[in-house]
Amino acid sequence: MSAISALPFLKPLHFRPPRSSPGRQRRHTLPASEFRCLTPEDAISVFEIEREAFISVSGDCPLHLDEIRHFLNLCPELSLGWFEEGRLVAFIIGSLWDQERLSQDALTLHKPHGTKVHIHVLAVHRTFRQQGKGFILMWRYLQYLCCLPYVRHATLMCEDFLVPFYSKCGFKALGPCEVTVGSLNFIEMNYAVRGHAFMRRNSGC
Ligand SMILES: CC(C)(COP(=O)(O)OP(=O)(O)OC[C@H]1O[C@@H](n2cnc3c(N)ncnc32)[C@H](O)[C@@H]1OP(=O)(O)O)[C@@H](O)C(=O)NCCC(=O)NCCS
Repeated sequence: MSAISALPFLKPLHFRPPRSSPGRQRRHTLPASEFRCLTPEDAISVFEIEREAFISVSGDCPLHLDEIRHFLNLCPELSLGWFEEGRLVAFIIGSLWDQERLSQDALTLHKPHGTKVHIHVLAVHRTFRQQGKGFILMWRYLQYLCCLPYVRHATLMCEDFLVPFYSKCGFKALGPCEVTVGSLNFIEMNYAVRGHAFMRRNSGC
């Protein structure tokens, strides 16, 4: 096998249609790594990661498919996806909340006049965990929130064992969260977006 034929992406030049050909198709190469807000079309990929990360473990997940679509329709700008060669490998979904602390309603509502981003879920695809991706995605998300003038805080609820992870991301534990899901209890954690002047100065906003 020649060196060229061993590389399936390289076609000999004479196979290319001429530049003026109306049928000429531009070859799109998917970016190795891309960060972008999610759209409702990403809902299935999001749910696939959730299914493995949560449903296979506990039988339930933070957002069901209809809720993913709901938030990605209402506030896609509060989501962030990490794509590797076009494939979703990690994501965050948030919505706005307008109370001091989270309550059961926060699980399903988006309060457009709120100043707090409630992070419903952060999940990394199984094969990409423990590589720093969760931390990096959260870091980029918080930096991005610094650019949204109406956002003052980011808040989330997590199980005890993830408190060290979110503390490393800059969140402070507020204590037990009043929200429970089945028999699960959570710690509520807060990140002062407006308190991080350094990040704001360096985020290019
Ligand atoms: C939690 C999660 C988002 C972390 O992402 P990640 O890319 O694997 O994490 P990173 O590589 O950036 O950081 C690793 C750190 O995460 C923490 N961590 C991750 N999973 C953990 C777990 N199951 N138990 C305890 N700590 C955990 C540890 O602090 C670890 O630090 P260490 O390497 O010093 O042990 C990812 O493991 C995941 O998607 N888990 C399933 C879904 C989930 O639980 N999401 C959070 C609740 S919404």
